[in-house]
Order: sequence, then C-alpha cells, then structure tokens
Amino acid sequence: MSQAAWAEGIARALLEEPLPRRWAHSQGVAAAARALAPVLGRHTNIVTAAAWLHDIGYAPAVHGCGDDLFREFKPAARGLSDALTYCDMTTGPQGQPLTAEQRFAEISDRYGPDHVVTRALARSAPELAASAARISRKLGGRALVPRPAQVPALMGAC
Ligand SMILES: [Fe+2]
Repeated sequence: MSQAAWAEGIARALLEEPLPRRWAHSQGVAAAARALAPVLGRHTNIVTAAAWLHDIGYAPAVHGCGDDLFREFKPAARGLSDALTYCDMTTGPQGQPLTAEQRFAEISDRYGPDHVVTRALARSAPELAASAARISRKLGGRALVPRPAQVPALMGAC
C-alpha cells in the first residue's frame, strides 16, 4: 500500500463522518497534490499523503495532539512544504479550486475578523502566498491546478 493510500484511509476514518466538509476539502487538497506530479516527480506520493493528513488535527479524535506531532516530526523540506501549502491555499472548504487570493478571502469571511484563524492567517499570509507563488512559477505561472472530475460532485454534498 502506498503512503498516500494509507493516509487516505486514516483521513477518511477521522474526517468523513464527523466533519464531511473538512473531508471534501481534504479530497480536493489530495487531488491538487496528485495534479502537481509534473513538478513533484518522485515526491508526489509523500506530498499527496501529507495532503490527506494535513487537516486531521480538526478531527475530534485527535484534538490536543499538536505538541506530540511537533516533537515527533521534523519540518519538511521547503519545496515539499511549498507544495502542500499551495494545494491547501488553492482548495476551498468544499474541495473546489480557488486562487490563493480567493482562499485567503474565503477563510477570513468564514471565520470573521476577530477569530484566531483569521488573525493567524493575517500574520502568515505573506509566507503562504510566497509558497504558493513558488509552486505557481514551477507550473509556468498557471494559477490553478486542474482537478479530477469527482471534486465538483463533492461540492453539493456538504
Ligand atoms: Fe486545509
């Protein structure tokens, strides 16, 4: 079993039922990672696995594990981290493709101006945008990654 398939199973078990919209988003982020294969090459599988797992911290079953995860795992190489950031920042809450600018606005609108997520996003937006821009340049300046056909079908499921 590939790392991506293993990770998909974990994400499905943790997100599909309790957090269906988060599950749809994770499916879109994983699809975006697979679509980055032309720039990721041999790293496609590990970035896709990370895409499946990137939001499992929202699952009720794993709340409070952040400190353990930070101790257990080293930060990824910048190119791989950029790729995951790009996929997350160009995928909406229902798995739909967005530009990074649309994604920032969507997050701010969804959480509201005073929420900790919005405040954290405001601080990290320049770094996130720079990560997304580095990947976009590797894609030849294309802002969006084509997604598999199943993503639009997911949009009505939430
Ligand atoms: Fe995400």
